[in-house]
Amino acid sequence: MEATIVSDNVKHYPVLLKEIISVISPQHGGTFIDCTFGQGGYSNEILKYKDTNVIALDRDIETEIIGQRLQKKFPDRFFFKNLNFNKLSNLKLKNLNVKGIIFDLGYSYVQMKDQKKGLSFNSSGDLNMRIGLNDFSASEVVNNLSGKELEKILKYFGDEKNARIISKNIIKQRSSKKIRTKDLVNIIEKSKRKQNYKTHIATKTFQALRIFVNKEISSLIYGLISSAKILKKNGILAVVTFHSLEDKIVKYFFKSLSEHKSVSRYRPKIDQKKVSFKMPLKKPITPSDKEINENPPSRSAKLRYLIKLEDTFDIESDILKKFSHLIDIENLSLKL
Ligand SMILES: C[S@@+](CC[C@H](N)C(=O)[O-])C[C@H]1O[C@@H](n2cnc3c(N)ncnc32)[C@H](O)[C@@H]1O
Repeated sequence: MEATIVSDNVKHYPVLLKEIISVISPQHGGTFIDCTFGQGGYSNEILKYKDTNVIALDRDIETEIIGQRLQKKFPDRFFFKNLNFNKLSNLKLKNLNVKGIIFDLGYSYVQMKDQKKGLSFNSSGDLNMRIGLNDFSASEVVNNLSGKELEKILKYFGDEKNARIISKNIIKQRSSKKIRTKDLVNIIEKSKRKQNYKTHIATKTFQALRIFVNKEISSLIYGLISSAKILKKNGILAVVTFHSLEDKIVKYFFKSLSEHKSVSRYRPKIDQKKVSFKMPLKKPITPSDKEINENPPSRSAKLRYLIKLEDTFDIESDILKKFSHLIDIENLSLKL
């Protein structure tokens, strides 16, 4: 597998690359939107096929330099923009026949290892977790929101069983001193009685804060809705997820667009609706044992895709209602 090398020690392996290419089939040419450019693994691969064009987005300004290099190589076929994919509808794409839109959610290995971003519990200094184009940091969240608010974030975004006790201990400790990354890890260690976890004891709390700081839930939902509208007939929407919350949202959205029966409890009376999309596989595509061996973090990746059956800008999905409880939690940030 090809790895995009950024520095001597830190490499990012594009996950499910062969599978993505086989789903979007760039060998026939066309315009593709890579919503999560990252280290450019997917864009590079698509551009190897002549007659392809790629529009790439990433919220992390540090990926722009990789985008600029690719722009030099393919001035007429590649375009990069530092943009959150929740603003996809702001791009002027009206007359473009977009053949495929891809999302490779989460963060690259390079970002996870970046001390400044502070995504890892091994980072030092202040809590940050801002990937780019953010309004607030994890430090502001942990040091300002109430115990109840923090508990909701840890419970719903991290599935953290010990959310209440961790939040209580955060409030106790921050009355005497601002909480920084190492302090938070210590609080989590003290709050959890059971210590023999498969993953690091702080994983769930850190994931929850990262999702909250980067507004991952609403970004994903608005990114998906815009993509479904932008695509033309036969266009493909392909999404790689890394955690169960993301996958739940993608799965629900794809089902809501492709099944005749309403999947919603909000619309129980309508049992037959018109669909403009097809989901060819009910189950997600997952990495082979070989890929997991070469790149262990790929083990949690799931690829789902959807095909648009007709040209229409109207889409019928109640995804915003379905996940409104999560968007309400995200909106706790309005207090910061
Ligand atoms: C897993 S990496 C993508 C790796 C890429 N497929 C490759 O092969 O190099 C995900 C990228 O998506 C970006 N990203 C995450 N959320 C985003 C959002 N809401 N808008 C735009 N970019 C986002 C991250 O900054 C990161 O660079």
